[in-house]
Amino acid sequence: MDHNVYVTGPIPELALADLSRHCSQLDIGPAGSTATRDVLLAGLAGRDAVLCSIRDRMDAQAIQAVGPSCQVLASFGVGVDHIDLEAARSRGIVVTNTPGVLTDATADLTWALILATARQITQGDRFARSGRWEGWEPLQMLGLDITNKTLGIVGAGRIGTAVGLRSVGFRMKICYVGHRASAELDAVGADRVDLRQCLAEADFVTLHMPLTDDTRHLVGEVELGQMKASAILINTARGPVVDEKALIVALSEGQIAGAGLDVYEREPAIPEELAKLENVVCLPHLGSATIETRLKMGQIAVANLLAVLSGKAPINPV
Ligand code: DGY
Repeated sequence: MDHNVYVTGPIPELALADLSRHCSQLDIGPAGSTATRDVLLAGLAGRDAVLCSIRDRMDAQAIQAVGPSCQVLASFGVGVDHIDLEAARSRGIVVTNTPGVLTDATADLTWALILATARQITQGDRFARSGRWEGWEPLQMLGLDITNKTLGIVGAGRIGTAVGLRSVGFRMKICYVGHRASAELDAVGADRVDLRQCLAEADFVTLHMPLTDDTRHLVGEVELGQMKASAILINTARGPVVDEKALIVALSEGQIAGAGLDVYEREPAIPEELAKLENVVCLPHLGSATIETRLKMGQIAVANLLAVLSGKAPINPV
């Protein structure tokens, strides 16, 4: 095939190899902070297809920049809140994503945050290395039990369900909020409840919904106030589903016990007031970051892109 494709930044080599066999021109944008807006806009121009990721703001201006030949925007990831879907649709550009393959990695990381916040893993690591540890103490660094507690899942899609199924080994009671009943969660005895009940009953509240106009600031001052003072909030979904200012107040004033965060309102910025809180574990958006998962994401993004360029139906149209 004779295609001109732009990949906005480095992705796993094996996935790129599949792509390069089908392109007459393939350019890869820079990694990290060198990927400025101007570099992105210049790289997009005149392409038949673009493989982008959640770090690229594919708004109307960017979609305008790709030009009339572009047939497909294949996103490396499941969330598509970085893409102006209406602008793409109006230009006849197909948008695809990579659902499914990152479910387990993201559910695993959610559990890493549950365990880390409940048992003070990151604080303990810092303390153990500090040279200040003087030996075992009955009252040292006491965390919270997880076993037999209540897990509240907000958003019972693929990832929320996978998080819930992992809680069975901890003999947890599960309540969940979802547009539809989840047969898999129901099968392990979960209760479908409304948001208020979920927040009020759960010892761990974990968020798993896409970012949309309806979910932006879904968890704000009022909702944080409905949680138990002993509860922990986990967010591996999208930062803006939580009102970060309200969260900082709730954490600083002890309205809730802690938070485990993989995502932030204005990534990569993490507010200083949040970063300095001891009852928060902060990760740099690592949900899908395993070698195996990122390779599968790359391969699926490439397969979607090539399907559209060869006139076939995309595997994962958005
Ligand atoms: C996604 O895919 O939406 C994640 O946030 C990044 O893997």
